[in-house]
Amino acid sequence: MQMLALYSIKGGVGKTASAVNLAAEACRDGHRVLLWDLDPQAATTFYLRAKPKVRGGVDKLVKGKAALDKVIRDTGVEGLDLLPAAIGSRDMEQLLEGRKLSRLRKLLRPVVDDYDLVLLDCPPSLSTLAEQVFSSVDALLVPIVPTTLSLRTLEQLRGHLDETNHACPVWPFFTLADRRKTLHRQVMDTLGERWPTRLSTVIPNASAVERMGLERAPVSHFARASAGGRAYAGLWREIRQRLQ
Ligand SMILES: Nc1ncnc2c1ncn2[C@@H]1O[C@H](COP(=O)(O)OP(=O)(O)O)[C@@H](O)[C@H]1O
Ligand SMILES: [Mg+2]
Repeated sequence: MQMLALYSIKGGVGKTASAVNLAAEACRDGHRVLLWDLDPQAATTFYLRAKPKVRGGVDKLVKGKAALDKVIRDTGVEGLDLLPAAIGSRDMEQLLEGRKLSRLRKLLRPVVDDYDLVLLDCPPSLSTLAEQVFSSVDALLVPIVPTTLSLRTLEQLRGHLDETNHACPVWPFFTLADRRKTLHRQVMDTLGERWPTRLSTVIPNASAVERMGLERAPVSHFARASAGGRAYAGLWREIRQRLQ
């Protein structure tokens, strides 16, 4: 079971859109995927037409396989299961506070044989939860909008990971990119030198991706051949190669 997180200190950069689309692509590829919505805003849960709130509170997460199986839900995407958002982020923080690292991975132990890939959709913060994410995953997928400020955010993340001794690899990729904008092109050209681990697939600013909120489905389900749909398919192929 491999584990990846969509993570950024910034909000609104396409973490959730990427989590849902990459999960759908991995499923098309025959992987058994669990998407864990860690953001109390529950956007992933909404996109997949599930109800938020882990019934009975987050305690269910620590009560063994039967309890965990009860909170994990099917989705309209074949092969994709969802661990929906818990309403209170406080509950989640409490569950993790003061715990040893890699707790998120350990919580999933009862279902480790049920999934090939776990994707985490994270809220934008550097909290207890983030520390647990950093210590649990095989890599961080970090969406960045190609502006100078976003590159600084990426440097800050790297600084933080170095300071706190987290060795987890960072794989940045561009989202919401507009090649007609000179600044976007310039920023995209500079990333390669500084970040050899970056994923080269660029997700464009695409109306099909924006429509996910209306369709409440991954882009591949209603606009597979669109620019956004093709881009996510390509991004997944690149990630799959790295995971092998
Ligand atoms: N590639 C894209 N093209 C156009 N709109 C996008 C794209 N990716 C995300 N969006 C839109 O941008 C907003 C923020 O995206 P979201 O995935 O929720 O970001 P985050 O999870 O990082 O906060 C949403 O309204 C979403 O529909
Ligand atoms: Mg989000």
